[in-house]
Amino acid sequence: MSVFWVTGASSGFGHDCAVELLKKGHTVYVSARNAESMKDLAQMCAKVLPVDVTKEEDIQQAVAVIQQEQGRLDGLLANAGYGVYGMVESIPINDIQKQFDVNVFGVARCIQAVLPMMRQARSGRIVITESLAAHASTVGIGWYAASKHALRGMHVALRQEVAALGVKVIAIEPGRVKTRFGNVACEGLLEREKEADYQQLSRDFVDYMDRPTMWRTATTQSTVDAMVHALTAPKPHTVYRTTKDARLFPILLKWLPDAWYDSIILKKITGQI
Ligand SMILES: NC(=O)c1ccc[n+]([C@@H]2O[C@H](COP(=O)([O-])OP(=O)(O)OC[C@H]3O[C@@H](n4cnc5c(N)ncnc54)[C@H](OP(=O)(O)O)[C@@H]3O)[C@@H](O)[C@H]2O)c1
Repeated sequence: MSVFWVTGASSGFGHDCAVELLKKGHTVYVSARNAESMKDLAQMCAKVLPVDVTKEEDIQQAVAVIQQEQGRLDGLLANAGYGVYGMVESIPINDIQKQFDVNVFGVARCIQAVLPMMRQARSGRIVITESLAAHASTVGIGWYAASKHALRGMHVALRQEVAALGVKVIAIEPGRVKTRFGNVACEGLLEREKEADYQQLSRDFVDYMDRPTMWRTATTQSTVDAMVHALTAPKPHTVYRTTKDARLFPILLKWLPDAWYDSIILKKITGQI
């Protein structure tokens, strides 16, 4: 049985992946900011670590505990993340920085903290929850997409750097999935939008996010299955696109002229198609 650390385990993908790993009998360290929010996982014998990924000391402490208790870590699922949706011009710099501090620097802190242990063992997996937004961007998700594009740029380099050291680096790319994520990402968007030029587009975007789409995957299952495969299969893939939209968009982006892409997205968001 293996030893894993799942960040962002209090809800959504991280939570459901931790449950699957626990059911398979692995030793699973789970983290989020508040231990209380992972009580159900503790009852399933998960080892709970309160970690805010923006705090270096929390991460160092978590890794020290894993090192001391297990002497090894077979896989990190760097999953903690959130979105701040809204128009590029309208999101305060401070909010953009906070989002990068979790989505990008939080992942950086975790990766840098666990790699020495994995390099020493000449074994280990770093699985990163990226997104379709690591490839594609649309109205309303600009700064979130920027954070996920940053992860993609980093993970390809890391994958090459540690390939000869026995460490595998794997990206998980879900499209839209109903978790707590959507509510958090749209929170305060309309109230924040003071600029008349963007108010209708912001309302359309929020409506669009609420609208059922042919792409929307009802559950976290396909993504969780991919995460478990990435962490445990003898030969994991380098990238898992876990929903229909996540598989289709990169192909569309490759072949569609930008003007067509923009026109389709704008029509979709404003409800014209
Ligand atoms: N749902 C989607 O449509 C979708 C699509 C593509 C990618 N993703 C990515 O999937 C990952 C998980 O999202 P989800 O959909 O499962 O959303 P979720 O249910 O909101 O889960 C987000 C998790 O991240 C944790 N988190 C947020 N800020 C944190 C911080 N500063 N320190 C530590 N943990 C923090 C949350 O824990 P606490 O708030 O309890 O601390 C929570 O456990 C994210 O990286 C997200 O970008 C989601």
